[in-house]
Amino acid sequence: MVKIKTDDQVELMRKSALLVSKTLTEIAGILKPGVATLRLDEIIGAFIRDHNAVPSFLNYNGYPFNSCISVNDVVVHGFPNESELKDGDIVSIDVGVILDKWHGDHAYTFAIGEPAPEVQQLVAVTKESLYKGIEKATTGHRIGDIGFAIQDYTEKAHGYGVVRELVGHGLGQKMHEDPQVPNYGKRGTGMKLQNGMVLAIEPMINLGKKEVFTESDGWTVRTKDGKPSVHFEHDVCIRQGKADVLSNYAAIEEAEQKNPELFVCTLKA
Ligand code: MF3
Ligand code: CO
Repeated sequence: MVKIKTDDQVELMRKSALLVSKTLTEIAGILKPGVATLRLDEIIGAFIRDHNAVPSFLNYNGYPFNSCISVNDVVVHGFPNESELKDGDIVSIDVGVILDKWHGDHAYTFAIGEPAPEVQQLVAVTKESLYKGIEKATTGHRIGDIGFAIQDYTEKAHGYGVVRELVGHGLGQKMHEDPQVPNYGKRGTGMKLQNGMVLAIEPMINLGKKEVFTESDGWTVRTKDGKPSVHFEHDVCIRQGKADVLSNYAAIEEAEQKNPELFVCTLKA
């Protein structure tokens, strides 16, 4: 069942989404080679609690950390650990909060040092694909239009692998609400989008093949071919004509540009 949010509820959700954006901005400022991802997770947990919120991933179906930190061939749900980021890595940081009963859940992939050009392009194309999906997140379109737009741009135009096993989702007082939001699909199919629906749209795109597997820890999802994977996620409210993006990359991107240890990946022709 899909829960339509009132305007007041959407404003509360914007606060939750923006707290995630703020947390990711903090992390963007301190990312560098040599930092252990578990340190980042500790900072994420403390920052969220300092802002009167709760890290929603912690204990979700037994998930044991504040955040998911997914390096290189880890697609999503990577465990923060003592291994250190190094020059050329890409790292998806996925953060969720509950603030005043409402969930925010979004993610950004950063490039450490200077990744290979093909990896830079994967990062840029995946981010762009999120916006291709968001363009379709308007009243009257269907769920399949979002997935089609993402798949068409990443798989058809760039030859990347679109992960099938994991999808975006509705968001509200629960982290995962209906509907599911696949990053693949057929135009004009699936549930009709309505004003006030809030969706987490989250392309997970592989440089190589689409196939993934889950490690024996029960969480860590990796590409089968060992090639890198990129993940971006925004929280979006369906509106007539133009989606209202509740999360915000502007401050994250500013911090990314200011941090000399990070590479800003831009689209190459
Ligand atoms: N952003 C992810 C999701 O939407 C992360 C949640 S996994 C968790 O599904 F277990 F860590 F919470
Ligand atoms: Co999500």
